[in-house]
Amino acid sequence: MEIGQEVIARCRQLAAHTEEPGYITRTFLSEPMHRVHADLRTWMEQAGMSVQVDAAGNLRGYYDGATADAPRLIVGSHLDTVPHAGAFDGILGVVLGVALVKALGGRRLGFGVEIVGFSEEEGVRFGFPFIGSRALVGTLDDTVLLTRDADGASIADAIRAFGLNPADIGEARVTGPTLGYLEFHIEQGPVLESLNLPLGVVTSIAGQSRLEVRFEGNANHAGTTPMHLRRDALAGAAEWIGAVERDAAAVPSLVATVGKIEAEPGAGNVIAGSVRMSLDVRHTKDQVRAEAVKHLLDAAEQIAARRDLVASSQLLLDQTAVAMDARLTEMLGCAVRASGYVDHRMHSGAGHDAMVLAERMPAAMLFLRSPGGISHHPDEAVLEADVAAALAAGLHFVDQLERVHG
Ligand code: HGY
Ligand code: MN
Ligand code: MN
Repeated sequence: MEIGQEVIARCRQLAAHTEEPGYITRTFLSEPMHRVHADLRTWMEQAGMSVQVDAAGNLRGYYDGATADAPRLIVGSHLDTVPHAGAFDGILGVVLGVALVKALGGRRLGFGVEIVGFSEEEGVRFGFPFIGSRALVGTLDDTVLLTRDADGASIADAIRAFGLNPADIGEARVTGPTLGYLEFHIEQGPVLESLNLPLGVVTSIAGQSRLEVRFEGNANHAGTTPMHLRRDALAGAAEWIGAVERDAAAVPSLVATVGKIEAEPGAGNVIAGSVRMSLDVRHTKDQVRAEAVKHLLDAAEQIAARRDLVASSQLLLDQTAVAMDARLTEMLGCAVRASGYVDHRMHSGAGHDAMVLAERMPAAMLFLRSPGGISHHPDEAVLEADVAAALAAGLHFVDQLERVHG
């Protein structure tokens, strides 16, 4: 089987491990993650790696370097998904990493290679993203472990339920010398397809703010309450969501999204007394993003005041924009060219584990084209030839590192 075919087949095999039959949904350390770990462990061991799961639920395969004290290159991405996801967001980066080690064919390098499947990057279950990569770089503070999901289970509870011990989280931190981090990932957007290019070398990753925004009013009878006597939280939220879309469209390259809304009590014949919404704001410049968040929260206050409602918000994530490491990115661009492909540089609108790893070590990312420019959707795809192109570039990248560190 061609390598592109094998990688895609493996991604689709892992996609079948889901919380929702008929869809791909896999959140932090949910039960199907055990089966993802089992399949990846088999493939990692077949490629000559030793495998362990750390206390944050990261699956970690290690391919020895020529000496025990050799530094390591870390290659990885995340194993969790958004609800009703595609088969490649995150997973592709781990399966391609295993294929990279397998392609070495037992050849020993001057450095080790660690393939990491991060336990959680999307932030779906707890509203807090990057749990796995934060544990690996040692910035997951204990208070975060107390964060609770919709059912009242904490991150620590989820770790225990998976058969791990949250008290060992500190041991997940990578301690030895590292050369850097490489992440393969689908672009999740339309740029590479529009340019008819298979690969993109990432220069920077947009910063993102994630908040919960609430409107509080009065629940009341839908039939007996005249329109002018209502304190309708859902009508207020609807007006604000329109303002989010309109005001974000007016700022170049800014994106702002209300992707989730919950109205209470949630009955057709009851005026909504309270509404909770998500707000996701992103931009490559942190100042622009901060000003946009402030503007949108001020708009919520103004709408609430006019409608005799109460608006409130809670900041869940303030992730700064991150530049990829210049030297490692240059090596990656060189590897793409050496493989016979166009070295297209681009920024990432999506967040990635690489922005967390970049806090501790040089980080670089290689994008693969997203056919149809679609992601976070069952139609998400990747092309066999582009997988083969990415692997060829990955091997050239490893050869360059070997020439320097071998
Ligand atoms: O939302 C994102 O940017 C990524 O898919 N976690
Ligand atoms: Mn994603
Ligand atoms: Mn992703």
